[in-house]
Amino acid sequence: MKTLVVFYSYSENGDTEKIARRLAEAVEGDIERLELVTPYPDDYDAVVELSKKEVESGATPAIRALKHNPADYDMIAVGTPTWWYSMAPAVLTFLKSTDLGGKTVLPFTTHGGQTGHTVDDIRKNAVGAKVLSGHKFRLDAYGAESHATPDEDIEKWLDAVKNFAGV
Ligand SMILES: Cc1cc2nc3c(=O)[nH]c(=O)nc-3n(C[C@H](O)[C@H](O)[C@H](O)COP(=O)(O)O)c2cc1C
Repeated sequence: MKTLVVFYSYSENGDTEKIARRLAEAVEGDIERLELVTPYPDDYDAVVELSKKEVESGATPAIRALKHNPADYDMIAVGTPTWWYSMAPAVLTFLKSTDLGGKTVLPFTTHGGQTGHTVDDIRKNAVGAKVLSGHKFRLDAYGAESHATPDEDIEKWLDAVKNFAGV
């Protein structure tokens, strides 16, 4: 299967980007980072406030044109940080503006402990696609109480996806 990994990550080399890169490498696929036409403000608190309004209203902010054409792929992996218990708005824009009919969609999310309905929301918006079960990764948990996803779980998932994709 030919795979395109599409992801949004808030920060440079963010958690979702790290997983997306490993996945693209494992399945020998291509990778596409979603970029907003109007980037978020630099002030973190402003981003928190703005993104809450966007997610709660189902906003679809404009994204830049993709460098890859999803029509050329069998499987589209869709990666997002969990934002307000759902996907980041750029990912909703991608899903709503892309014909995913007949594609296999592989959702994954990175999060801080509460993924809410992120995967369900991806499923609902991947119209006409066969949506595989979603995977959740927590990379930003530190200290003795860490609930971070063990790296071996990530490796197991990568192996399973490789098998599925026939790589
Ligand atoms: C605006 C905003 C909202 C967030 N909302 C949630 C949330 O609802 N649940 C959760 O577990 N983590 C939440 N997080 C934490 C991120 O999902 C987590 O840090 C993720 O791994 C970041 O991925 P990234 O580095 O690719 O952007 C939020 C982070 C931001 C910036």
